[in-house]
Amino acid sequence: MTIQQLVTQPFSDQRPGTSGLRKKVTRFQQPHYLENFVQSIFDSVGSIQGKTLVVGGDGRYYNEQAIQIIIRMAAANGIGKIMVGRAGLLSTPAASTVIRKYQTHGGIILSASHNPGGPDGDFGIKYNTANGGPAPENITEAIYQCSRKIDRYLILDTANVPLEQCGSHPVGDMEVEVIDPVDDYAELMEQLFDFPAIRELLASGFTLRFDAMHAITGPYAHEILENRLGAATGTVINGTPLPDFGGHHPDPNLAHARELVEQLFSDNGPDFGAASDGDGDRNMILGRNFYVTPSDSLALLTANAHLIPGYREGLTGVARSMPTSLAVDRVAERQGIDCYETPTGWKFFGNLMDAGKVTLCGEESFGTGSSHIREKDGLWAVLFWLNILATRKQSVTEIVQQHWAEYGRNFYTRHDYEELDMEEAQGIIEHLERQFSTLEGRRLGSYGMELCDSFSYSDPVDGSTSSGQGIRILFKGGSRIVYRLSGTGTVGATLRVYIESYEPNPVRQHLDPQQALAPLIDIAVELGQIDSRTGRVNPSVIT
Ligand code: G1P
Ligand code: ZN
Repeated sequence: MTIQQLVTQPFSDQRPGTSGLRKKVTRFQQPHYLENFVQSIFDSVGSIQGKTLVVGGDGRYYNEQAIQIIIRMAAANGIGKIMVGRAGLLSTPAASTVIRKYQTHGGIILSASHNPGGPDGDFGIKYNTANGGPAPENITEAIYQCSRKIDRYLILDTANVPLEQCGSHPVGDMEVEVIDPVDDYAELMEQLFDFPAIRELLASGFTLRFDAMHAITGPYAHEILENRLGAATGTVINGTPLPDFGGHHPDPNLAHARELVEQLFSDNGPDFGAASDGDGDRNMILGRNFYVTPSDSLALLTANAHLIPGYREGLTGVARSMPTSLAVDRVAERQGIDCYETPTGWKFFGNLMDAGKVTLCGEESFGTGSSHIREKDGLWAVLFWLNILATRKQSVTEIVQQHWAEYGRNFYTRHDYEELDMEEAQGIIEHLERQFSTLEGRRLGSYGMELCDSFSYSDPVDGSTSSGQGIRILFKGGSRIVYRLSGTGTVGATLRVYIESYEPNPVRQHLDPQQALAPLIDIAVELGQIDSRTGRVNPSVIT
């Protein structure tokens, strides 16, 4: 067993995006590509000699090979211990849980979240710090700068570690501890939620379906929903993680979780449905014949948090990403707590949670979570909903409609234009920016313009500033159009257009969102010259 120092050359494309470095599997398989990035992590995250790191991934293609490489490099770099999930598996929320519980120096998570997997699919890697959350921008930028200059990396010449067996394995001077991927996470969920009440609900004939989409949450959902809470066998569908997610797109939305959606929208479907994504941090919530938007879900969790044992003490504040609808703002206002608006990406919530300024946070992109960890958490959101349903003894539809009647409804939709030419997409953003001065104070259709800007965020905890975070067109009365380019795509550019209007009148709250938002959608296309600049008549995905 010898430490090898291998000569390498930098790759120019290793700048982490919204959530770590994401590329095609084939890119990661290029000689030295993964190694360069891992060495850049080790060289940028402080002294790691003798420290413990958590490593795990969502089980997608290349997961295990990557973990074996990381283990050998960690041993060569003087790391004291690696804690890794059995078979290399850890959902993103479970990795965050383990980092926090065992107070490790940080962790490396292997995932491309909801992006497709398999040999031709995507792979990803990101670093999380000791608080359990994604590394902030100063660290990801330092990693990137290292990756631009790297000329060597260290790796131990040794055999693979048997990741199928829990227990301790020596690798050189380092210890690798293979842990059960579910235990610590399930225990945390039992502390937060009223498991006996949920068990009673499930025993009373209430039916639910959870779609793990052949991704990481299968083992977690089997254990928590079926074994610990007594849901019927068969509650969890697509519950075995597969390296290519069965050829599907593991993204819990109306377009991709089709099997679940069909069941919930059928006659005599289950009372409640939910799905999670590739790495287990996203969630979609459905009632019978009813879809809950993630933005509404965040508002509802905030309004009902006092019913949940883990949040009974009250919320210190809430946060949402800028494109997320303003529904939660109204709840926060009524509760007299602060509501923060951050750029897209979970990493911006970390400082607010560490400083005790917020308890719950969410994004419109099917992400909800709380300060119990520092990642969004798919199954946590499902259990939160089940706890509310068990306590209120009403249907999902009743609970949401009652909420709208009380606070008003924020009609909301997101239109994605995928695989655009990068220059064309940037051209749309620049074209919008050029119009700012002529738009202020104008009327577009029946909408009076209030403000347009390019969103910039100044972190109230560390004072750091992030600019260029999306174009906001705000209208009087709470309607908005937001445009931004995705930071997670791996092919060309993805333009996301977020459209929202506020409807206080219960008589008009039952419209279909695409119908209710149709005039604003037209304005959004026209203002951005989307069709003429891209040649696209329709978005690729509507959520
Ligand atoms: C997308 C979502 C964003 C989320 C991120 C990681 O990023 O929009 O809310 O935090 O995935 O899951 P985007 O591709 O828009 O940059
Ligand atoms: Zn994810």
